[in-house]
Parts: sequence; C-alpha cells; structure tokens
Amino acid sequence: MSKEIFNPTRFNKSNNPDFEQVLEAHLSRRTLLKGGLGLSAMAVLGSFGLAGCGGSSSSGSPTASSAQLGFNSIAGSKIDAVSVPEGYTAQVLAPWGQPITASGSAWKDDGTNNAEDQDNAMGMHHDGLHFFPLNDEGTDGLLCVNHEYIDQNALHPTGSDADENGIRSSVDQVRKEINAHGVAVVRIQLQANGEWMVVDDDPLNRRYTGATTMDISGPLAYSSKLETPFSPDGSQARGTLNNCGNGYTPWGTYLTCEENWPGYFINTGETTAEQERIGIDTSGTTRYGWETVAGSPEERVDEFARFNVTPTGANASEDYRNEANGHGYIVEIDPYTANSRAVKRTALGRFRHEGCTFGKLEAGQPITFYSGHDSRFEYMYKFVSEALWDPADADATDRMAMGDKYMDAGTLYVARFDAGGTGAWLPLTLDGATQDGGVLADHFDSLEDIILNTAGAADLAGATPMDRPEWCAVDPFTGSVYLTLTNNTRRDESTGTNAANPRLNNKFGHVIRWDEGETASEFSWDIFVFGSDAAGDAETNLSGLDEFNQFASPDGLAFDKRGIMWIQTDNGADEVEEYTNDQMLAVVPSMLTDADGNAETINAANQGELRRFFVGPNGCEVTGFSMSPDYTTIFLSIQHPGNWPYSTDAAEETPANMSVRPRASVVAIRKTDGGEIGV
Ligand code: FEO
Ligand code: CA
Ligand code: CA
Repeated sequence: MSKEIFNPTRFNKSNNPDFEQVLEAHLSRRTLLKGGLGLSAMAVLGSFGLAGCGGSSSSGSPTASSAQLGFNSIAGSKIDAVSVPEGYTAQVLAPWGQPITASGSAWKDDGTNNAEDQDNAMGMHHDGLHFFPLNDEGTDGLLCVNHEYIDQNALHPTGSDADENGIRSSVDQVRKEINAHGVAVVRIQLQANGEWMVVDDDPLNRRYTGATTMDISGPLAYSSKLETPFSPDGSQARGTLNNCGNGYTPWGTYLTCEENWPGYFINTGETTAEQERIGIDTSGTTRYGWETVAGSPEERVDEFARFNVTPTGANASEDYRNEANGHGYIVEIDPYTANSRAVKRTALGRFRHEGCTFGKLEAGQPITFYSGHDSRFEYMYKFVSEALWDPADADATDRMAMGDKYMDAGTLYVARFDAGGTGAWLPLTLDGATQDGGVLADHFDSLEDIILNTAGAADLAGATPMDRPEWCAVDPFTGSVYLTLTNNTRRDESTGTNAANPRLNNKFGHVIRWDEGETASEFSWDIFVFGSDAAGDAETNLSGLDEFNQFASPDGLAFDKRGIMWIQTDNGADEVEEYTNDQMLAVVPSMLTDADGNAETINAANQGELRRFFVGPNGCEVTGFSMSPDYTTIFLSIQHPGNWPYSTDAAEETPANMSVRPRASVVAIRKTDGGEIGV
C-alpha cells in the first residue's frame, strides 16, 4: 500500500522464529542452484556462479544480459514536475478523471463530476499497469491501470461529507468513491509527433470498479464461505478494491492484486479467526465509511450494506457476513475481449497481495507465480501450477480458459528464509507440515479454509516474517527472482532480526533475491541491495550508495526483456526525502559478476551501475512499470502527487503560487529521437 494509507498495526501475532543478526552471512555471495544441482550437491561442491557477461548456458541461451545503461544518473529533485535524463521527454497520459467512454462528461477541475462520470473515466491513484500491444510495431495497444485508493479532498469539490463520527450522507459521493477504485482498460495510440493519445470511446475501453460483478474460481468457487444474498451459490463477488501491484500472464491477460482490502469492511459482532488474523476492523467505521449510507432510499441491491460484515441474521443468506471473503485475491482480466468478466483466482491465496509475477517459463514445466503480502512481519508466497506449460497456449484465443488451466489448480507455498543463504518453500496444503510436528489438517478442514486464512496457515507452517514484501520481478536471463522489502520501523529488539531481514529499525528497506532449487521446496538467496542515504553509517549504507543512487523504501520492481531491472520508491525516510522526491533507478543485475563469473550484489565498487533514471513530482509515489515492445516508451504511474500535473508535459513545473487539483496519472517516457530507452 502507499505510505499514505499504511496501517502500522502488526496483524501477525505469531512468534515465528527470528534468528540472530547474521550480517556476514547475508552479505556473502549466495550459492546458486543451477544446472540441476540440489542443495546437497551444492554443499559438497561449494559456491559456483553464473557465467559471466555474455556467457551462455549449455543449452545455448544467454545467461546474462548484454544491455549497457546509456544514461548518466540524474540528481535528485524536489519540484512539482518529473525529472528525466537529458534527451528524454515525459508525457502526462490518461490522468484521473479523463473520460474513456462516451457516457462520461469531460473532467472538471472543480471536483463536480458525479458518480456516473467516474464510472466512465480513469480512476484515481494509479498504481500497477501493463501495456498490451494491438499491432506488431507496438504503436497501438491497451493500457490496463490499477487505481489503488482515493484522495477525497481532490475527488470532491470540498472533500468528504463525513461528519465528526465518520458518517456519510451523500450517496453520489460514496458511489463516486467506489467507482474511482479498481482497474481501467484504455486503448492508446502513438501519434506521428511522438505523443501517445487515448482513443476516446474505443469498444475495448472499460472500467472495473469497487462495484463490478466478478466470478470466483479455484478452491473457493461455489464455497458456502462465499455465500451472500447477492451470490447465494458463492460463485460471484462484487468489486475489486485497493488494487496495488499488478502482473500479467504469458497468455495475454492482466492480473490486478487486492492489497489493503480489509480496511473497507467492518465486523462489530463476533469475529472469525481469519478476520482477526487479516485485520478486519471491529469498531468505528470503515476507511471511507461507505457502509454508513446503507439503508438510504437510493441504495440498490445492498451496495453499501455489504461493507458491514457483522452477522445480524440467522445465516449467510440474511446478512453480509461473507462479503469480505470475496476479497483478497489475484484477479484476472482479459483486456482484448470487450466486456469480459473479471475472475478472482483464489488458488493463489488470500492476503494483502502486492503484486503477482510469473517465474521464468520452461516448456513442460509448471508455471510459478510469486506474490508478497505487504504488511510488517508478513510473508512471501508462490503458487506452482499443476498444469505444465505449453508454449502454444501463449496464442490461445480463449485467454480466460488458460487462466482456468494454469491458475485454478496447483500448490501454494510460503517462504522460510534460513540463515546461510538457503530457504524452504512450505506447502500450504492439508498434508503440509506445521512447526509443531503436525500437519495443517490438524487445524483446517479443507483447502478452502486454508486459502481463506492463508496467513494463519503460514504462521503454523513456520514462514519467515519479512519487512513488508512488495513487488517481485524475474530476471529474464538468469531466472533469479527479486523482491522489494520496503521497510519495517517496528523491527526492534523485541521482535529481533532474521537472516533475510537483518536490520533493526529498517527504515530504508532492501531488495532480496533468490534462485529456485532442484525441487519446488528449496531455494537459495541473498540480499541484492540495501536502501540507505549516502551519508548513512557503515551499519546502514551496506551497499555503498552515493548521492546519485541513494534511495529508501523500494516498492515497484520490474525487469524489461533486455535484463534491465527498474526499482521504484515509496519513500518514508527523511534522510533521503530531504534530498529527493520518489524516484526510479535502473541496474542490469546479470552484468554484475566478479572475475570468476559469480553473481555479485551491489557494493561500494560496483554501485555506480545502479543509476537514477527518473524522479517524480512533490508528494508522489512512483509505481507501476511497462514498456512498449520496441523499448521506445516506458509507461509508469505517478500516484498521489501534491500539486501536479500542470500541463501534458509531465516535466513542466507547476508555477510557484499556483495550486492545481492534483491528478494521479500515467507518464509516458520517450527519447526525443524515438530511440530505445535506457541504453
Ligand atoms: Fe500498495 Fe504495498 O503498496
Ligand atoms: Ca506498492
Ligand atoms: Ca509502499
């Protein structure tokens, strides 16, 4: 979630093991599980590494990128404009409120657009996104954009109508807020002048909001635990909320991730174990108080009552006790099919999903999807498909059938990071082992129940509490998986550290990485880079960062297909914030090898290869990443800017003494000569 709405509560009350601080262990190069060697073989042979720059594996495919960053790191900035390297442009594209269908009015800068306008326009607080091309050149395509949450002060003429107790009165205001959440699918085209344009009212343009009906698939489909008066057979849920990170699939669909959804629901009565574990509110009102307009004569089909999940009737057919059970999932959307139904893929677990990223594909092998749970002391998960990857499925025309094939049946695992650079994936299945020597079946009756309380099952299995897992990205050359751990200032003497989260008061965050082992249950890991200010002491600035790459709170993370990794920040550390707004950095990890070809982490000698490429405007968070297929445009999101955008030129500074209604937006970055970005 954004630092703006971050809930500091520790939801994980388990006492999973924390290890002694082992700085030396995590700083040493990890041993890589490559070439079919398992952990035991590795222990005999000792450390061996990837082939060096431009090297090839025995199968002939390159094991390292040959990309060279072709720009100089830019200085930090703190202005109401974005900053890019010399020779680059940045365009404001598809900002909040821009109509995408003919049913919505033009955006008004006084906040007076109504709920129906919002239902037909770009939502608020853009986050994860992905570009799906519609031609070979990549100059025409569909942009899918997450809208994570809202700023009521910007959304309405004079902010929320809530009274001192949080009670709302305007049904249209509440509907507008619900409609500002979710996902937008919008067609965009590159014009001859090098600028992108939104195609107005394209048949493929559409919104998925906090109210859109969606199907449930996987273990919880047709479960009694999802029965509501709206969906008596438990096959549907209404809306997707707090859509943060994203993913996409090899078959051309978009994945949107439900992150901080518990705050939209309240239970003032008897709570369930899973509600307590995930943190559903039990008093006051929900985050925006939508449930407080329930019972209005204008209410349709319990559209507001459903956010109050307090059991009041005799059973689930008489109240909305199960409404929240339809949230907390990875949601699949087929952008290429107009009006297609979104599907919640429950097999991938139910928690605060930050993102969802598939591992390196191999024909005839399962597909792995990675997803982190973003809260303090929460866990990292992976889902391994039962179906084996058939490359022909990449061209399937019934894309959602591919989702059914690869995402509805498989095994969900949670990560235990052990000292010494190895780790174990713990299966969250009925026969999965628990720390006390039993199995999860001792605590759960079915896989449905495990999924519903994924984090509770992971507690029992003995997962490692992490410093807020955010986005994941997979190196297309090495298959190594990178994960941002944004920060955790509550990691103190009482909680202790562990090998994978070794810093007390971790205000700067770090990026961890791992390689899968020979079996689905083993991996090896190390820490790629530690966030820090340049002036940080030796215990803090462990990666030797300087002014030109100091950063804090890594969050968004992506690889492009050339092997360049892009790191985005949602900074919460004053030491870096005093120097720069949130930013995006680039590095080519597979190029960082020692003389023997072993993979290296960022250190004082090589840190110049981590370069600042972009800085956002004041107040914002930089998030979401996608590239056009020819690498000539980067699309990213600017979320919750303070006083921006001033014009369609994202780099044009809002004049001093001028206030604009802030609008989250996509920013399209290009080179002035139209060439490849970054190299
Ligand atoms: Fe919505 Fe964890 O960032
Ligand atoms: Ca995030
Ligand atoms: Ca964040």
